[in-house]
Amino acid sequence: MSSKRLIIAVDGPAGAGKSTIAKRVAQILNIEYIDTGAMYRALTLKVIRSNIGIDNIEEIIKLMESTTIEFINNHIYLDGKNVDKEIRENIISKNVSYIAKIKEVRLMMIKLQRQIAESTNLIMDGRDIGTIVLPHANYKFFVTASVEERARRRYIELTEEGKENITYEQVLEEIKIRDKIDSTREIAPLKKSPDAYVIDTTNKTIEESVNEIIAIIERG
Ligand code: CDP
Repeated sequence: MSSKRLIIAVDGPAGAGKSTIAKRVAQILNIEYIDTGAMYRALTLKVIRSNIGIDNIEEIIKLMESTTIEFINNHIYLDGKNVDKEIRENIISKNVSYIAKIKEVRLMMIKLQRQIAESTNLIMDGRDIGTIVLPHANYKFFVTASVEERARRRYIELTEEGKENITYEQVLEEIKIRDKIDSTREIAPLKKSPDAYVIDTTNKTIEESVNEIIAIIERG
């Protein structure tokens, strides 16, 4: 390997398979994986635990200023405590986009994400990585799938082992709402960077999508 940095940006809507694919690519290339959605989810968890209204922007910003969010060995820590599990609950998915559209929240997260990317080779996934956070990434991918397929996958995830009591229709509706907030917000909306490769995972296995990405990177 040369000493050239390898920075890969992955963006796309909820349930497209981004995280699973990015994690596999990170393993294959032996680089770090950073899930920026987990950072927004961690702050949302803190807001919900603090009983602050989701629309109380002033209090949310104050709360954020006394919050630490960090990755240690691929696990997410909120104020020093591991919250890998808690951030995946559906109550967080339902509320996170309201927190993620606050300008001050985004500015802080973007700063943190750029700091992380300064010192290591990595693949970072989110909504605004190729467009705003790491516009100079070596490779950019926009991972997507039909909304029905994304809802189907998320429904399976949420209901396996009886974790959540929810219908497919509810999941579909929640994903549509989240897509809409994420793509229409004023700051750093979800958008394909013009130089990103589109990976449509609708009719593909994880392995096929991973191979597609690795082939593009190996081609150079
Ligand atoms: O895993 P899933 O696709 O459901 O979403 P996620 O990547 O965990 O992101 C959760 C939410 O955080 C998104 O719906 C966005 O509202 C927000 N987010 C964001 O605004 N910018 C990012 N770079 C990553 C996530």
